[in-house]
Parts: sequence; C-alpha cells; structure tokens
Amino acid sequence: MAVSQVILAAGQGSRMESDLPKVLHQLAGVPLLLHAMRAGAALDPARVVVVVGHGGERVARVVEAEDPRAEIAHQTEQQGTAHAVAQARAALEGQSGDVVVLYGDTPFIRPETLAAIQEARAAHDIVVLGFDAADPGRYGRLICAGDTLERIVEFKDATEAERAITLCNSGVICADRAVLFDLIAEVGNANAAGEYYLTDIVELGRARGLSAGVVRCAEAETLGINTRAELARAEAAFQARARADALENGVTLVAPDTVIFAQDTYLGRDCVVEPYVVFGPGVTVETGATIRAFSHLEGAHVSRGAVVGPYARLRPGAELAEDVRIGNFVEVKSAQIDEGAKVNHLSYVGDAHIGAGANVGAGSVTCNYDGVFKHHTEIGAGAFIGSSTMLVAPVRVGAGAVTGSGSVITSDVPDGALALGRARQQTKPGLGKRLMDRLRAAKAKG
Ligand code: UD1
Ligand code: MG
Repeated sequence: MAVSQVILAAGQGSRMESDLPKVLHQLAGVPLLLHAMRAGAALDPARVVVVVGHGGERVARVVEAEDPRAEIAHQTEQQGTAHAVAQARAALEGQSGDVVVLYGDTPFIRPETLAAIQEARAAHDIVVLGFDAADPGRYGRLICAGDTLERIVEFKDATEAERAITLCNSGVICADRAVLFDLIAEVGNANAAGEYYLTDIVELGRARGLSAGVVRCAEAETLGINTRAELARAEAAFQARARADALENGVTLVAPDTVIFAQDTYLGRDCVVEPYVVFGPGVTVETGATIRAFSHLEGAHVSRGAVVGPYARLRPGAELAEDVRIGNFVEVKSAQIDEGAKVNHLSYVGDAHIGAGANVGAGSVTCNYDGVFKHHTEIGAGAFIGSSTMLVAPVRVGAGAVTGSGSVITSDVPDGALALGRARQQTKPGLGKRLMDRLRAAKAKG
C-alpha cells in the first residue's frame, strides 16, 4: 500500500535563541530535518510533503537538495499541529493510501519503527507512536482502554489524574489520507493553547466508530529538540551510538570518545581510526583503511588499504583508490587519486587526477583557482612531482614524467619528460663569507 509522508517543520524554535530555523541546526553533521526525512525515505514513500514556516525559503532549499521530489507546503501562521498538517492537503489531493506524520525536530525515529506503524494499520484506522516516559513532563498523554487508544490529552489540558499517566505521544501518527484530512477538518481550537491539535483526531475518530491503537518505542527514539542543551544531549547520544556501532561492526577505534561521526559515515570492517578524527557528511571508508590521528574528512571515499593522515584533510570529491597514501598537512578536494599514488607531506591537490603510482613531493600545490574559475590538473601514472612544484592549472604532466623541485609548471609536460621551471642557480665563490663579515663589522660599530 502506498504511503505518503508529511513532515512538520514550521515550528519557530524560539527556545533555540537563533536566527537559524530550528530544523536546520546540525545534528551529526546534517540538519535536524534530514534525519526525519531519511528515516522516512527508508519506507520509499509515494509522496513527501514538508510543511515549512519561519525561514521557509532556507528550509525549502535544504529539502530540495536532499530530495528534489519532496513538495513544500507553507504554513504562514503557526496555529498548531493539525493546522500544519492541513497545509499538506492540496499536495496530497487524490493520493491513495496512508499518510504518516513526522516531526522535523525529532531525529531518532528508526525506519523499523515506521514499518511497525504501517503494519499496525492492519488492525487500527489510526495508529499513534507512543512511549513510556521516565519523566513525562509536558508531553501529550495517551488515554487507553485496553488495546484501544481513546484519545490524546495535551499536558496543558490534562487533569491531575491524566498527568499521572506515563504513556506519552511521540507525535508520529498514521492514518488513511482521506480519513486523516476529514478528521482534521473537524478539529477546533477550544483548548488551553488556542491551537488546532492534531492529537484531537483520535477522539474525533473514535466518535465515528473508527479504531485507534498505539505502537510503542523506546523513549530515546522520540527525543524532540527544542533547546541548544537538548541538541547537545542528542548529539552526545548519537555519537555514543555511532561509536558503539562501529566497534560492533569490526572497526578499531583507538580512543572512541575522541572520534566524531556524521549521520551517514560508513566504515568498513578492519578499518583503524586513530584518536581525534572528525567525519563530516558523506564519508565512506572501505575495509582495512587507516585514518590516522587528527584528520578531518567530508564527502570523501577512501578505498581498501589506503592510509590517510595524521593531520590530513579530505574535502568533498576526494576519491582515493586502493593503497593510496595521503600524509600530514595534505588537503585533497575534488580529486581522483589512483591506486598506490602518494601525496605524503604539506601539499594541496584540488580539481585533479593523479595516476596510479605517482608521487607528489612535499609542499606541492595544484594552483587550481585563477580568482574566478577553477582549472584541472592531470598527473599521469608513475609521474614524479618534485618537492615544492607549483602546477599552474590547467596543466597536464604526462605518465612517467618528472618535474624538478621548486618548479613552476605552466605548460604541459609530455610523457617521460623532465620539466624544470625555475631560475638557474648562480654560485659566487667566497661571496657569502665576505657579505657576512661586512654585516658583522657594521653591527660592531653600532
Ligand atoms: C506535540 C504533541 C504532543 C506530543 C509532543 C511530542 C500536539 C498538539 N501535541 O506537542 O502530544 O507529546 O508533540 O513531542 O500535536 N509545528 C508546525 N506548525 C505548528 C505547530 C507545530 O509545523 O503550527 C511543528 C513543530 O515544528 C514541531 C512539531 O510540529 O516539529 C510539534 O510541535 P510542537 O509545538 O513542538 O508540539 P508539542 O507542544 O511539543
Ligand atoms: Mg515539541
């Protein structure tokens, strides 16, 4: 059965004390909203609608970059969760099947839990994801009679007896699209907050003879983020889990607590990660590669047996083939480095292709940027780039070619050639000593 998703992301997030919309604050290297979108994407939804409000244009750009098929609905005034879902009505008109409502500020919902909610729909018209809260605080409470969910009461509107209930509403709700929007149309705002509560659809549905049920998940999964302190706690929880998963999957972390993961970091079996390594988004490291201490990687792919660092920086588009060596204080960006090539010290490689087995000497730079455009550098297989070579792109150094140390290479070097692009050395016998004697004498005079 087709499923559509509505992700609520219009909340102001005023408790973040920020100019940035709440759902764009980063968790595990990516905006909060993308965690909800990615969990939802695992169910392969027919349609995705993201409801945006404050900072809507910025949020829309992030949504578009993640999933160009996702639609944006605008909620100009935040009148409550039912009102927010209602904004997605037009985008889902005529769509058959179920709708799952997710919150953009609730990042840890697992795809397995969403699948369980879908399954539970076979037994109930409305399914709500609930959890047993250690401290139920201000969450909405689920009022059940046996296996049936009768209604949801918001904390503000709850009696003392209702507040004593610890089974809480996570916010995730699933129902048939037509049923959901019919019920939402009936929701009023005569409550303590003066808002249109999505949670009211349960009681309205029960009055029509529909059935409602609860799927339970762990409290950690439904953690919602409203403050920077909650964001920091969520980050710590994410990192703890990512480190444990990596160890579980056969990765050696020499000092686990010092390694930072992103939401989508992939490390193959038998990788070794030394202390103080940061993985930004989009990194995959294959089996048996080593990431040495104090390295920073994002948008990069490291193949089997490669060694990166210490103190290396791999930026987006860094593609390292098997057994490549990237050493200390080397930066690589948008560059394919073929098997066994080495860039071991103090170099910048950007917008380049380095052939297999080539060696780039210390302090070499691909001068890729002319201030307006970026240009490509091609280094052939087995080439030897002498230390401190400046490769002024666009430029090509052929296979097996050699550049002399300190060269500024501005034109192509054929295969197997030696290129020297530096001033010829002049040596003046005795002149060094005479010069120093003169200077020292001048100093002694005062
Ligand atoms: C909501 C639930 C509550 C549940 C809790 C779980 C309602 C009425 N209450 O309360 O039962 O226990 O979540 O965290 O649904 N949003 C909009 N537009 C709006 C209002 C909210 O897009 O007009 C979005 C927010 O950005 C957020 C989500 O909806 O992502 C939830 O809104 P929030 O105000 O945080 O609801 P709670 O009071 O936490
Ligand atoms: Mg909330």
